[in-house]
Amino acid sequence: MTLYGVGLGPGEADLVTVRGRAVLERADVVYSPGRLSRSVATEHVPPERIGDVDFPMTRAEGKLRQAWKEAAAAIAPHAREGTAAFVTLGDPNVYSTFGHLRRTLGAFHPEVEVEVVPGVSTVTAFATALGVEIASGASLALREGDRGAAPTGPDRLLLFKVTDVPATHEKLTAAGYHVQYGRRLFMEQGETRVTDDPAELADRDYYTLAYAEKRGLDDEPVTAAFEGAETETGVESGPDTETTAQTDGGSLASPGGRDGSTESGPEVSPR
Ligand SMILES: C[S@@+](CC[C@H](N)C(=O)[O-])C[C@H]1O[C@@H](n2cnc3c(N)ncnc32)[C@H](O)[C@@H]1O
Repeated sequence: MTLYGVGLGPGEADLVTVRGRAVLERADVVYSPGRLSRSVATEHVPPERIGDVDFPMTRAEGKLRQAWKEAAAAIAPHAREGTAAFVTLGDPNVYSTFGHLRRTLGAFHPEVEVEVVPGVSTVTAFATALGVEIASGASLALREGDRGAAPTGPDRLLLFKVTDVPATHEKLTAAGYHVQYGRRLFMEQGETRVTDDPAELADRDYYTLAYAEKRGLDDEPVTAAFEGAETETGVESGPDTETTAQTDGGSLASPGGRDGSTESGPEVSPR
């Protein structure tokens, strides 16, 4: 009948959505592309309903295409005759392996229906974990920072796959960014780390991201004027009759790092 691509969220079992869990509970078989996604899935699915698919650790395109063809051929009969799910960490449509599966099924098994259940992506979860606010009107670009890469340009960057934090850090700070790092955010496996000190994350861990913000951005939201106010009545208040400000873009978050200070972000696990 259907193959569901289910986003599991960043790694804690209770950040799987209600809809995602319902799909996992009723799926005949649940495939996972890796150890971590499997360990989240098994919090909701008994091990006998977990299916096996193998992916080689290679960048060789031919081998990867072959592996996806084999995975699609193994999954298609289950998705045709019943309900199958394929889980990914975060969201299935954000920097995810699920796209390969969907394209391969579309090419070789077009009769299989595919539906996606979105998950909590690190694209949004990082903001809470790092104590950052992406305010209404701000831009945010996604990039990859693997093996010391440090793409620059946009005012705010979220870098995935930051496997060499010190090398990436050196380049980003030289280019005028203040950078914070998050490792294993909202993840049960391993230690959650949030820091702006690259020395603390010198070892390689694939589940590391970086948020880089150009120093000196001058885009304070209107309510930033309240910060540091001693009492509620100690600051100018009352409705602003000169503007028609939208009220859905505000936030109660108390973000850090906007001024490039090194004391931004939570000191403890974001859990
Ligand atoms: C291939 S991308 C997958 C993104 C995922 N589909 C999502 O929506 O969040 C993998 C990269 O995401 C980041 N990432 C994923 N989960 C993470 C987590 N819990 N904590 C920190 N970074 C994470 C890391 O940078 C990792 O290298």
